Amino acid sequence: MARDLKFPENFLWGAATSPTQVEGHVDNEWTNYVAADGGHCRVACDHYHRYEEDVDWMARLGVNAYRMGIEWSRLQAAPFAPLNRTELARYVHLLDCLKAANITPMVVLHHFSNPPWITSAGGWLNPAAVPAFVDYATKLVAALKERVCLWNTFNEPDTYASLTYLLGGFPPFHKWKFLAYRKTIRHMAEAHAQAGRIIRRDGGFGGRTPEVGIAKNWTSFGAFQKFALWDHLLAEISHHAFNRFVLDEFLGGRRREASTFLGVNYYGRARLNHFQALVPTNGVSHERLKQLGIVCDDMFERHPSGFGTLLKKFHRRYGLPIYITEHGAASTDEDFRIRDLTAHLRELRAAMDDGVDVRGFFYWSLLDNFEWQFGYTKKFGLLSVDFNDSELPRKMTRVGEFYRSVCNRS
Ligand code: BGC
Repeated sequence: MARDLKFPENFLWGAATSPTQVEGHVDNEWTNYVAADGGHCRVACDHYHRYEEDVDWMARLGVNAYRMGIEWSRLQAAPFAPLNRTELARYVHLLDCLKAANITPMVVLHHFSNPPWITSAGGWLNPAAVPAFVDYATKLVAALKERVCLWNTFNEPDTYASLTYLLGGFPPFHKWKFLAYRKTIRHMAEAHAQAGRIIRRDGGFGGRTPEVGIAKNWTSFGAFQKFALWDHLLAEISHHAFNRFVLDEFLGGRRREASTFLGVNYYGRARLNHFQALVPTNGVSHERLKQLGIVCDDMFERHPSGFGTLLKKFHRRYGLPIYITEHGAASTDEDFRIRDLTAHLRELRAAMDDGVDVRGFFYWSLLDNFEWQFGYTKKFGLLSVDFNDSELPRKMTRVGEFYRSVCNRS
């Protein structure tokens, strides 16, 4: 890798996962869900039992950070209940294994899944979810503050709310319920504001100041054809609904004080052609995308230059330190994934040279895993997992080796 890609010494080089996608043995709204490929998340990567082995793999990868979720449904059996001691002890042990390997944890409190009692009470449409979440966060921070300093309240609230209430991709699979989408975002933003203040107030330990933020997915929308006014209009509406409205709710006005950083999940862009998004996740074939000259992984159009532009824009607008909480590519073509990563790291380096305060980068994902509605077909892992073998063996990929060289160089 080119020498110009040197990063500061204290930069966090991490890998990311989420509980439903890797742990297995969860009891939430995804437990009985069967994905497009017939897969389900009941065992996933069995990270629940194999986390010690996975920490060894992280050490071999040379990462110094791990963005992991804590599964709320394991910790509280009812609203305001005390935290489940056995499950808490397991997470504490995982955090201790990370510490022994010199790996800094970033803990995500909500990554697309809820305890069954939240779901049966109407999910995030019910304002009662807000105090319940804040109670959970308060108890968890008190229990883990000696071990965790970096907190991520919500992962991609925009993705969660749009796939549950607009696009029908996540349970409860509703479509075009705009008011429900807005309500979900508003309740999550309020929960973030309250939990963020508590984390900042109570989360310090041993002279360390706690850090807290959301992870915002950023997809930029545009028209594929220059003169297709209708596509420009739809792109503008999508941008407003998924980006501007969400950021205003989470970071606007006094709510800004609840966050010490902004997490950015960046994968690419979606261009519209006669109201159709030209991306593989929308069912458009690779052949067609290739004909149109669109470069994609198995999910989205890649757009590295948009990454640098975005980072500068966030820096100007919010002035908050930034963590790249997710970037990665899904493909079985490892050369493609390496090129994609290199291009994005160059953009990141250039933005930092221009003064953007970026503190860390977390590759999505540590492991091939359960990719929600698509099941096990999307290969994002630095480590591959053989899901046809009941032992679920992990194997270093070439992307993983490449990432190791990035982590070691800085
Ligand atoms: C989510 C992950 C997901 C990844 C790849 C992000 O939107 O946070 O859960 O696996 O993108 O699609």
